[in-house]
Amino acid sequence: MLRVVVLGAAAGGGVPQWNCGCPVCRAARGEHPRLRSTQTSIAVSADGDHWFLVNASPDLRQQVLATPQLHPREGLLRHSPIAGVVLTNGEVDAVAGLLSMREGSPFTIYGHAKVLAILKANSIFDVLSETNVKRQPIEVDRAFEPKLPDGTPSGIEILPFAVPGKAAWYLRETAHPKGRDSEGDTLGLRIRDKATDKHFYFVAACAHVTDELTARLAGTPLLFFDGTVWRDDELIANGLSTKTGQSMGHIAMSEKGGAIESLAGLDIDRKLFLHINNSNPALMCGSREREIAERAGWQIPADGTEIVL
Ligand code: MLT
Ligand code: MN
Ligand code: ZN
Repeated sequence: MLRVVVLGAAAGGGVPQWNCGCPVCRAARGEHPRLRSTQTSIAVSADGDHWFLVNASPDLRQQVLATPQLHPREGLLRHSPIAGVVLTNGEVDAVAGLLSMREGSPFTIYGHAKVLAILKANSIFDVLSETNVKRQPIEVDRAFEPKLPDGTPSGIEILPFAVPGKAAWYLRETAHPKGRDSEGDTLGLRIRDKATDKHFYFVAACAHVTDELTARLAGTPLLFFDGTVWRDDELIANGLSTKTGQSMGHIAMSEKGGAIESLAGLDIDRKLFLHINNSNPALMCGSREREIAERAGWQIPADGTEIVL
């Protein structure tokens, strides 16, 4: 059995974002507290006792507090059910939560060599001593089975694959001055329970949908996909920022070639958007955009949503 908990569904900044007065953030602070959402991460377990996080969001502390499955086991003085963290990119909202995991419990960080190099180059991550916290490189198109802290296999197979994306935003001037992407910047994951062969896909950052990606995702029972913006220029159009979705490596939900259109008709049982920016009008219950997304079979999960496969 594969258990998945959506720890957070929001993009960088969360909902509401600390400095944002957009309609969604105002509603989340005021009359619609249910709109509140923490930054994207999921937790996955095959045995219900040991959990792997996909990305460690800056809201990790709050997410662990809200998720009983991730609390220390009764009777133990120091313990965490979190056995590892799989990083799919080096963005602040994917790695900053690692800094909240610095109290000496053993776990493993799995990341592409590129992302591990970012951690290595930033000495603040040295708070995670390598005696307790191993860093394990993962490669595109090479499946691996994360281990439990005692070295036994987890029963979960993870296949990382390349998806179109961008280097972390804060590296845009140095890593890829022309904004090009390259291997390792953005990973998608297929996560499979070895015992039951059940699987799902996590693709919470993706700049566009290629034929290769649709072929891969067709027929899957469960997909988490990039839901950052409704339309590519929405941050600019709303006067919030100068960033387009594409400049950050994110496809739009709507528009020609957007996620809703590109992933239609693929016989995917359950489709959920993750990494949803607070500017995205599909967050608003009852909005026209929400209706269009739902009619196309998409869900916008609340934090804490649990799915069993
Ligand atoms: C992203 O996902 O593209 C980043 O969170 C962008 C950013 O840090 O502004
Ligand atoms: Mn982000
Ligand atoms: Zn906002």
